[in-house]
Amino acid sequence: MTIAYLNGEFLPLENAKISVLDRGFIFADGVYEVIPVYQGRCFELDRHLQRLNNSLNKIQLANPLSTNQWQTLFTELIEKNGGGHRSIYLQITRGVAMRDHKFPSTVTPTILLWSQPFTPPTMSSGLKAITCPDTRWLHCDIKSISLLANVLFRQQAAMAGADEAFLIREGNVTEGAASNLFIVHHGTVITPPKNQFILAGISREVILTVMKKADMTYREENIPETMLRQADEIWLSSSLREVSPVITLDGKSVGTGKPGKMWLQVWELFQQYKKEYFSL
Ligand SMILES: Cc1ncc(COP(=O)(O)O)c(C=O)c1O
Repeated sequence: MTIAYLNGEFLPLENAKISVLDRGFIFADGVYEVIPVYQGRCFELDRHLQRLNNSLNKIQLANPLSTNQWQTLFTELIEKNGGGHRSIYLQITRGVAMRDHKFPSTVTPTILLWSQPFTPPTMSSGLKAITCPDTRWLHCDIKSISLLANVLFRQQAAMAGADEAFLIREGNVTEGAASNLFIVHHGTVITPPKNQFILAGISREVILTVMKKADMTYREENIPETMLRQADEIWLSSSLREVSPVITLDGKSVGTGKPGKMWLQVWELFQQYKKEYFSL
């Protein structure tokens, strides 16, 4: 039985109920986080809580809990669900109020958490991706629960037998429907810069950190669609896929059509970083 946390109470997930007037349900007026848990311990918790704060600030909602309170909640949630490798889903909405677009004057945010088992990716045999026009708004840096565009992109990918959709805005690739993106071009790793067109992924940060430490050269700059299509390697990153190689793009092989050498190097650095993170 999955145990969730809703507004101060731990309870079976199927008993966690909210009002139909919750602004998350009515307006998607809320933000979320997905935190990977390895052997019962949260990975990169500080970065996830910092990003949660950034998202809350951007929607002008005060963080309802302190860092210590969040940490205690996560520990309890993980224990109640039996530990192990898990992912935590955390959602905060502006709470329950009669439907009116402007913010309600007094309202208590809704806090929802649950966790589910997670199988960390092993040496990946490679993912398939398609491309789609990036039709989203200009606040993609907010981890908003308003994900209809991303849902449609992922569905389009699934219908094409692919795992991810990479998004093209004004001739440049931004990110995936639920991931960031890296390419290898003439031996250099390139990833789009952090701005309002992408979510600042925590795994993206980890990858940049490990590459820097290993003296690998990388650039954070726009990637034109033509460069994407000529890339020797393409990787995607997310908390649940870590860093995974993409071997076909719109049905055509990427590079050799196999996971690349630089991906393998970064995958190993990522695994090493995790080991060191948890042994601290
Ligand atoms: C749109 C988008 N970009 C990037 C990411 C990757 O972020 P992270 O590495 O923090 O999981 C996600 C993750 O869900 C996402 O939804």
